[in-house]
Amino acid sequence: MRTGLIKHSQYMDFLRSVPSFQSLPEDILSKLADVLEETHYSDCDYIIRQGATGDTFFIISEGQVKVSQQDSPGDEQVIVKTLTKGDWFGEQALKGEDVRTASVTAVGDVTCLVIDRELFKQLIGGLDDVNNKQYDSDEVKANVQAEADFFSR
Ligand code: CMP
Repeated sequence: MRTGLIKHSQYMDFLRSVPSFQSLPEDILSKLADVLEETHYSDCDYIIRQGATGDTFFIISEGQVKVSQQDSPGDEQVIVKTLTKGDWFGEQALKGEDVRTASVTAVGDVTCLVIDRELFKQLIGGLDDVNNKQYDSDEVKANVQAEADFFSR
């Protein structure tokens, strides 16, 4: 086993607490805890860049990230969502096209647990929650409108 025993059981406890992973059997959780890579980011670091190709899936174990999008290069970046501990991202590039659909940046110190494409496919890819995740464009539009309203006050 690559990770130490204590780390392994901490990862297991954390993974068990993620709602989307609740249906995963113990042996899969254990395998995940074995293979994930813990990565650290500082405030404003880019974790993902929109338009880049990507091969990794992220679960936030500490801190917060901002998801932002721009319609076309040179346009303003619009924050569409803030994600926090227990949330995951990066699944879109792992199904179908491998292009990242948004940028993700760290807000303060962030720790992510990272899983590569092959292991994602083997261990997590079967979960409906993850597989069928779609982002409601109405929600994005509502956020854009709310932000515009905020700045025009
Ligand atoms: P991916 O396209 O691989 O990389 C960027 C990630 O940001 C994407 O996967 C999703 O996990 C996430 N993402 C994209 N659009 C939204 C959105 N509208 N709301 C929340 N998260 C998003």
